[in-house]
Amino acid sequence: MASRVIALDGPAGSGKSTTARVVAEKLGFGHIDSGALYRALTLAALDANLPDQADRIVGLARTLPVRLALTGVGYRPEVAGVDVSAAIRETRVTERVSAVAALPPVREWVNAELRGAAAEHPAGVVIDGRDIGTVVFPEATVKIFLTASGEERARRRSREVELDASEAGVRRVRAELDRRDTADSTRAVAPLSAAPDAIVLDGTSLSFLEQVDAVVRLARKTIGSHA
Ligand code: DC
Repeated sequence: MASRVIALDGPAGSGKSTTARVVAEKLGFGHIDSGALYRALTLAALDANLPDQADRIVGLARTLPVRLALTGVGYRPEVAGVDVSAAIRETRVTERVSAVAALPPVREWVNAELRGAAAEHPAGVVIDGRDIGTVVFPEATVKIFLTASGEERARRRSREVELDASEAGVRRVRAELDRRDTADSTRAVAPLSAAPDAIVLDGTSLSFLEQVDAVVRLARKTIGSHA
């Protein structure tokens, strides 16, 4: 693995990915968004009209291939060499991704890809997801579980995707987050949960920059100020 791994887990809408990206910039690390790989795989399966058959989805991922490519500026999700950063945020992908991510062979494939991608980075990586500190990198240098109230997460997600930020709009986003949290937390394999040795950070009353600073401080404390 990369010499240093910062695992940032938490539920949808906690701001993990945007936080992880800025923390990585500040530390000179790479940022890996593990959800992006599940999404890219889901997109490929949808476009190939594949049912939720794990072996066929993994076969497709290998042949296309689906991957996170290390570029000069970070890791980019690709399907058959095409950048799918925008396409993986489509609603049809969001609606399907939890079901695809619940398939054990899919998770094994993703985990191997994530470990390979992290090993490619010369400095270290900040990697965000649901099971990074528990399953993918149980030996991570720093483990943080980032959370926030359901209401606050729905507001943040509404702003992020520039959806209707009215009360009714936020309620709709919250229902979608709750549905995915329940699916991700109750699945049999690698459910969303904080590792016993993770530091739990509740960002409900923190601004984005305060949240970033809190993670950077925790990371620096553990890996040394020269990181
Ligand atoms: O972080 P995200 O919302 O883009 O992730 C999309 C889905 O992928 C999420 O609903 C659950 C799944 N996922 C997972 O099961 N394990 C991870 N480490 C990352 C994401």
